[in-house]
Amino acid sequence: MSYTVSESILKTLTMNHQQTGFSFEVYDSVEGLAKTDAHLLELAKAATRNAYAPYSHFNVGAVAALQNGAFVTGTNQENASYPAGICAERVLLSSASSQYPGIAIETIAISYNNENGESNKPVSPCGICRQTLVEYEERLQHPIRLILAGMQGKVFIISKASLLLPLSFGADDLK
Ligand code: THU
Repeated sequence: MSYTVSESILKTLTMNHQQTGFSFEVYDSVEGLAKTDAHLLELAKAATRNAYAPYSHFNVGAVAALQNGAFVTGTNQENASYPAGICAERVLLSSASSQYPGIAIETIAISYNNENGESNKPVSPCGICRQTLVEYEERLQHPIRLILAGMQGKVFIISKASLLLPLSFGADDLK
């Protein structure tokens, strides 16, 4: 006896759905934050003044609180050859890794001042920065909390950077 299995039945036998998603904290303003988080965010807002963004006029400041109590700052550094520019997050991570190798990052606050428009919705780290943040978490075996904001408005707190990059590619994939 032979059976013919239609393609759609075969699909339901061999395929199942997986879902991804995450929850995060949303605050209406900086007022709702714990004191230490509000302080870190104020440092990030102040750091936007040190951005070098003559092309985009989008000034980003990031400040990390490390496990040893140190703070490390990063700002975006652009270049006339546009792809040579670096985001604030990656400037920060390179600096933290160089100044404090092996010391985990507890929290990074990120803010921006957009000279072209509003700065009132939480900043969203770009894909390359997400990849870099995730590798930092893996290297130090420690989650990095993210406080995302603008100069005003809502604040998002995400418990670990890897939530922003599901199904990420990492060192294990190269084994
Ligand atoms: N930028 C950052 O530094 N961090 C972000 O999270 C988003 C974007 C920079 C890159 C570039 O210098 C400018 O903002 C506009 O994209």
